[in-house]
Amino acid sequence: MRILGIETSCDETSAAVVEETGDAAKPWAVRSNVVASQVAIHREWGGVVPELASRQHIRDICGVVERSLEEATVTWRDLGAIAVTQGPGLVGSLLVGVSFAKAAAAAAGLPLVAVHHLAGHIESLVLQNGELPLPAVVLVVSGGHTSLYLVREAGRYELLSRTRDDAAGEAYDKVAKLLGLGYPGGPVIDRLARTGNDRAVALPTTRLTHADRNAPELKGDLDFSFSGLKTAVLRHVRGVQTNVPGGDRAMSDQEVADIAASFQRVVVTALLERTFDAARRFQARSIGIAGGVSANSRLRAELADRGVRREIPTFLPSLALSTDNAAMIAAAGLRKLRAGITAPVDLNADASLAL
Ligand code: KG4
Ligand code: ZN
Repeated sequence: MRILGIETSCDETSAAVVEETGDAAKPWAVRSNVVASQVAIHREWGGVVPELASRQHIRDICGVVERSLEEATVTWRDLGAIAVTQGPGLVGSLLVGVSFAKAAAAAAGLPLVAVHHLAGHIESLVLQNGELPLPAVVLVVSGGHTSLYLVREAGRYELLSRTRDDAAGEAYDKVAKLLGLGYPGGPVIDRLARTGNDRAVALPTTRLTHADRNAPELKGDLDFSFSGLKTAVLRHVRGVQTNVPGGDRAMSDQEVADIAASFQRVVVTALLERTFDAARRFQARSIGIAGGVSANSRLRAELADRGVRREIPTFLPSLALSTDNAAMIAAAGLRKLRAGITAPVDLNADASLAL
């Protein structure tokens, strides 16, 4: 069985063909995974402009799907189903993928599967590494989300905690912006941090102890918070810049690298501490980290390190499967299809879909 996956929730138009291997331990293989990035368009504005994103998805979707079939050397007749991201995301962007998938499924006579974007990120771990030892604690960390899930059985995701304010990727993007480093901020800060001193700037870590009034069902002590950190960086930068007569000093490259490294140390430590705390609390047999920020080099290295020290296996997607892509949507779609769950033809995009 081969499935076509379609992802248009934010600013990447992506289509992929994933097939079943017949091996229960490593159930899926990527045949193609085509991503048309809109980064160059949004960079000019310092972030994703929703209206521009949906228009660009419309321009790109047909060509991207055709290329994904070509690269997989399959035709529509070789497919068994179509999976599409239903949400969460930008509604105008989601609508392009959902409309295309519904029309294609109707025209080709194929079942349609609606996929939650974060289920896609979680299943990227299985697509890359095979089934995880369960129960697994999985951190999904991207530009829009920072959430911890407990996976007791494959395909079921229990929310343990989330960010109270900014997502970690959002903090990266905002800090990069205030340092004048451009968009998206994650990869730039990751690179600059390598030449910086990660103890040069004292920045606060937020440790939450009380339940969130908006989510009393969660205990709250595994929650994340990054907006205070972002404000602390802003205050530090202002302090450096105004610390001269006239009050307008440009920062040196070394000062910028030091801020990047110090910021990154605090973010990575907060992400890993909470994730390993959760793993201990729920006696997890493995840990996974997925989503755009899982591409971060320090996070990847420290995850592996801590895993060895705590004697728990840790898993990551490849870099190509970390940021938004349709292969992970196809994989999550296969999981749902095999559980007998398909979508009706009147499926609608849902910008705030719950997992
Ligand atoms: O998963 P993703 O592609 O899209 C969302 O669903 O949000 O994640 C994008 C986010 C952006 O905030 C970007 O700055 C961040 O992932 N990112 C990184 C790195 N590469 C991408 N953050 C830190 N280090 C990186 N190397
Ligand atoms: Zn994502």
